[in-house]
Amino acid sequence: MREFQRRKDTMLIGGVSATKIAARFGTPVMVTDEDALRENYRALHRAFNAVFPTRVHYACKANTNLSILRILEQEGSCIDAVSIGEVDSCLRAGFSPDRILYTGVGVSEEEMRQVVERKVPINVDSIGQLRRLAAIDSHHPIALRVNPDVGAGHSQKVVTGTKGAKFGIPKEEIVQAFAEALRLGFSPKGLHAHTGSGGSDPTVFGRVTEVLVDIFERVRSELGLDLEFLDIGGGISIPYRPEELRPDLDAIAAEVAGKLKGSSVRTLVVEPGRYIVADTTVLLTRVNDVKSTPVKDYVLVDAGFNTLIRPAFYDAYHHVAVANKFGQQAQLKYDVAGPLCESGDYLAKERYLPKVEVGDLLCVYDVGAYGFSMSSNYNTRPRCAEVLVWEGKPFLIREREGLKDLLRHQKVPPRLSQ
Ligand code: LLP
Repeated sequence: MREFQRRKDTMLIGGVSATKIAARFGTPVMVTDEDALRENYRALHRAFNAVFPTRVHYACKANTNLSILRILEQEGSCIDAVSIGEVDSCLRAGFSPDRILYTGVGVSEEEMRQVVERKVPINVDSIGQLRRLAAIDSHHPIALRVNPDVGAGHSQKVVTGTKGAKFGIPKEEIVQAFAEALRLGFSPKGLHAHTGSGGSDPTVFGRVTEVLVDIFERVRSELGLDLEFLDIGGGISIPYRPEELRPDLDAIAAEVAGKLKGSSVRTLVVEPGRYIVADTTVLLTRVNDVKSTPVKDYVLVDAGFNTLIRPAFYDAYHHVAVANKFGQQAQLKYDVAGPLCESGDYLAKERYLPKVEVGDLLCVYDVGAYGFSMSSNYNTRPRCAEVLVWEGKPFLIREREGLKDLLRHQKVPPRLSQ
C-alpha cells in the first residue's frame, strides 16, 4: 500500500487533490500516478539486473491503457501479451514486434495467423498448437511454455503452474516438444513457465527456476539446442493490506540468480503485471447512500463489481479510505457496496471509517492491476474514466463511456423497430 499525503482533510494523489479530480472528471474514476509507475518498473528492472541480465516483459493483461503502455515503452519494457487485442494495443503504443512475446492458451488458427503477420514471437502452449503453427510458418520465432508442476497464487482461480492446469506442455513431454519443434523446422528461442499470480510464498520463483534450468540443460545436452532465454513468468505480489510488507525484490532476484548460476542460461525474462501497476492507481467513488440495517451499516457507492470485480470474484482485499475525511479518526464499521442488483456486489467488508455521509468520496487503493482491465458493462453501466497525474496535474487518459458506446453494436431487426 502506497502512502498518500493530505492537505487539510483531503487526500492528495501525486500532489493533486482527490476531491478536485472527482469534481472535474466525475466518478467513478481511476487515477494513476505516473511517477509511481516509473518507480515500480525501475525498481524491478534494477533488482533483477543487479544479479543477472534480465528482460522485463510487462504482463499487459493487468492494464492496457495506452498511456500506461506508452510510459512503459519509454522505460524500455518488453511485453507479455495474451491476445491479438493486447498485441495490437502494444504495437499502437509503439512497442516493436520483437519486444512482445505472445502467450496464448487455446489459440485459434486465425489469431495465430494474425500474430505471425505482425512478426510477434509466439510462446507455444501445446504440441497441437505447435503443429498448427508449423502449417502457417515453421520458421516463426517461438518459445515453448511448460507446465512446471510448481504453482502459487492469492486464489485457486489464479494458480496456473500445477499439474493438470490447462496451461503449458506437461513437464514430462517438454523435451520431446522441443525435438518436435526442431523436426518441424523451428529454431526455438526460449523456455517459459508461469506459476500463478500474487501468491505470498516468494520461494516459488526459485523453485520454478530450478525446474526450468533442468529442462534448459537437457534441451542443450540431448538436442544440442542452445536457447536464448529462460522466462519464469510473473506473479510477484504487492501488499494490499496495511499490515502486509512489500515483497523483497532483491531477495527474490538473488534466489532466482542463485539457481541460474553455473547454468548455460544467458538471459532471464520476468513477466510482472501486478507489481508494476497495482499500487499506481486508486479508484475514486462517490457515496450515494448510507444505510443501516439491523445487522450492519452500508456505504453505497457509485462503483460496483462492474468497475472493480476483484473483491466479488476473488474475495480480494482492497484498502478503503474517505478521501475528503483523510486522516480523520475511524469511528464506525461499514460494508462498502456498489449499485449493482446482486448481493455479491461489494468492494469492502467490515471496515472502520470516519462517519460517512452522502456525497463523501471514497478512495479504493491498488486498483491499477486487473481493475479497469476486468471491468464490465453489467447493469448497462458505462466503464469509468481514467486519469493520469503527472507533475501535480491531472490528464484524462480515457473518457468515461456513454450510453452510445454501450448500445453501439446492437442491431434491432426492422420488424421490431417500431
Ligand atoms: N505471465 C503470464 C503467462 C500470466 O498468465 C500472468 C497473469 C502474468 C505473467 C502476470 O502475473 P502477475 O505478475 O500480474 O501476477 N485477475 C487476477 C490475476 C490473473 C493473472 C493472470 N495471469 C487478479 O486480479 O488477481
